[in-house]
Amino acid sequence: MKLRSHLAFWFSLVAIYVMAVLLGLGYIHIPLPKLLRSEKPAVWSAWQSPDPNTIPAGSEGDSIRYGMHLFNDTPWYAPQYTGDKLTCSNCHIADGVAPFASPVVGMTTIYPTYNKRAGRVISLKERIQECFVRSENGRPLPDNSREMNALLAYIAWLSQPEPTHKSFAGRGLIDLSPLVPDPKRGAQIYAEQCAGCHGEDGAGSRPLMPPVWGPDSFNNNAGMNDISKMARFVQYNMPQNRRGILSAQAAYDVSAYIHTKPRPKFNPAYGKY
Ligand code: HEC
Ligand code: HEC
Repeated sequence: MKLRSHLAFWFSLVAIYVMAVLLGLGYIHIPLPKLLRSEKPAVWSAWQSPDPNTIPAGSEGDSIRYGMHLFNDTPWYAPQYTGDKLTCSNCHIADGVAPFASPVVGMTTIYPTYNKRAGRVISLKERIQECFVRSENGRPLPDNSREMNALLAYIAWLSQPEPTHKSFAGRGLIDLSPLVPDPKRGAQIYAEQCAGCHGEDGAGSRPLMPPVWGPDSFNNNAGMNDISKMARFVQYNMPQNRRGILSAQAAYDVSAYIHTKPRPKFNPAYGKY
């Protein structure tokens, strides 16, 4: 009897341990009460940018490194092709790997792909140009320029070893059902939740806080220049220090408020991008 309870004790310890390991590894799932459940999809932690120390030496590595700098401070590293003060990673957050902030991970094998704006299949180079002439309010990079090759090398380096070939969880932005926005309510949300970083005047403060309107912001033809697209970005990613506090309605309202403000005009000469 004594031996048996002894065995039972050890057996239950082992069982608890095995359960804990399986839980930790995600093999078993115990539904938590709603309050305890994280609202953030699990893919948030799915991607980490690779360690820059693993960038190889030599000219290929130099190109990757240059692409990484360009991605993280575009106006500084590509001034002749940039018309505003935005850097790629202001929208493609965390070096371009954050899910639902339109990560560029995997793009090397996803492109060429169909593009809605162009109405045809486009290359990754063309997709990068699209962000240069709209989101950067700049000029297209020459096709075989050092800058273009560096961005492609950086994106390819980011994308290894996967995901490849297909869309993956976290590509693009989260889906939100269309809502009717109220820019007046949005003005109040902006003052309370956004102005502290992006400024009362929307100008941000270089180099840490990007502008959300005004002459240094993206132009009126950028993807972000769309109330619902901005709402989808903002609801998941902003406020940067308190992500997840905005309802879909609040994200729509604040985006609509930002859209009442002036910004640069797209140069129609670059319409083919
Ligand atoms: C003002 C914000 C902003 C900036 C700055 C910006 N982008 Fe983008 N980018 C977007 C948005 C929005 C999309 C489209 C997201 C969607 O529709 O799902 C996009 C899409 C892309 C895509 C395609 C992603 C896909 O899933 O197909 C690539 C590649 C890209 N951008 C590269 C860049 C590069 C390189 C830079 C810097 C030179 C840059 N972007 C700067 C907002 C921006
Ligand atoms: C704690 C500072 C902080 C707060 C608060 C904040 N942001 Fe941001 N925001 C950032 C930073 C920094 C980025 C660049 C991306 C990154 O590094 O996370 C950014 C990026 C953006 C972008 C894309 C880049 C651009 O400038 O167009 C938009 C749009 C945006 N924020 C809107 C908002 C809105 C709307 C709110 C309020 C609901 C808000 N942010 C609150 C710091 C902040």
